[in-house]
Amino acid sequence: MTSIQPHGGQLIQRLVPEHRRDELINAAHTLKQIPVNTWTISDLDLIAVGAFSPLEGFLNEDDYKSVISSMRLANGTVWSIPITLSVDELTANQLSVGEQVALVGDKDSIVYATIRIESIYRVDQREEAIQVFKTDDPEHPGVQKLFEKSPIYVGGPIEVIQRPVPEKFGQFYYDPAQTRAHFQEQGWKTVVGFQTRNPVHRAHEYIQKSAMEIVDALFLNPLVGETKSDDVPADVRMRSYLKLLEHYYPANRTFLGVFPAAMRYAGPREAIFHAIVRKNYGCTHFIVGRDHAGVGDYYGTYEAQEIFSNFTPEELDITPLFFEHSFFCTVCGNMASSKTCPHDKEHHLTLSGTKVRGLLREGKCPPPEFTRPEVAQILIEGMKEQTMEHTTV
Ligand code: ADX
Repeated sequence: MTSIQPHGGQLIQRLVPEHRRDELINAAHTLKQIPVNTWTISDLDLIAVGAFSPLEGFLNEDDYKSVISSMRLANGTVWSIPITLSVDELTANQLSVGEQVALVGDKDSIVYATIRIESIYRVDQREEAIQVFKTDDPEHPGVQKLFEKSPIYVGGPIEVIQRPVPEKFGQFYYDPAQTRAHFQEQGWKTVVGFQTRNPVHRAHEYIQKSAMEIVDALFLNPLVGETKSDDVPADVRMRSYLKLLEHYYPANRTFLGVFPAAMRYAGPREAIFHAIVRKNYGCTHFIVGRDHAGVGDYYGTYEAQEIFSNFTPEELDITPLFFEHSFFCTVCGNMASSKTCPHDKEHHLTLSGTKVRGLLREGKCPPPEFTRPEVAQILIEGMKEQTMEHTTV
């Protein structure tokens, strides 16, 4: 194991052992059922393998209230994002506290897990939105998802019987126990985690490599769960990461593994959550750049960094590495930030997401100072595939 402890001190394990699986699947078919969607299935899997340690299940009412109001579980442990199980009113009326219930895939009818119900509670979703997302604007993608859910939540510890099977890139799914073991085998004492929901552009590469100068290794940990529809699809991104790593990163100091969680777009609160989860995967450091996990103009450029000052280094126990907005400076002739470059903005190459998407859609590569040509090529192919899919549907 790496020297860093999981959050809360112990790596949670809520997967039922192989020899009890068949028995539990049969038993689960006799239980009442709660339908769960892809998002919730990814949450329960991440709970099961300890990525969300110390959570043993979906938040009960006390923990929920505490997380919403003070970014801590009821016992004081830092936790910033509510991981909840929403049920519709009809289903909720049939459930009672103390009962064990099956969590069943809404599309495939697979019994993924069981939950021992500790509480059934109704929440004020507007309040949740304001506390977690700092807005109740239904245009915000995280708020929109929240408002689509029933406001009745069920909390309690879970046991996972069946794990979701990845459709693609299954070889890049590692559980925290596996990443921890890998980091140790490699002899890495310090590992920096990098969260991304985007292709790795030059600015991302710059901050990753700046961090790599001071730690033993980089854990490139792209989020591949649900994202909003205009984000680049995960399989296209995976192809681009592999190409980039092959050409520009030292294989003996870089490790690629996916983070199969849904993107919340909760900016500052999500940065804390992302850091804690990467600690569970065994990272000692975590990169937080500009507008981490942000969307639109909902958060200040460095709010996701400032939020870390609410907690002591001991209670987070993973070192955040903060980076300023980075860009290519044509006068310096290299990547830089306002900390290292004295030149005016007009010399800085920055492109908006919309502009980049526009170029790629036309089959044009953005400048190499913005995106490596090998990556751009994969993104252009990805755009074409998407267009073909849309026209054939
Ligand atoms: S995120 O939603 O996953 O945070 P993204 O994939 O764009 O979005 O960012 C990954 C990480 O890189 C985040 O920590 C973000 O703050 C940082 N980042 C992205 N672009 C820049 C940039 N130009 N300068 C500095 N940091 C950046």
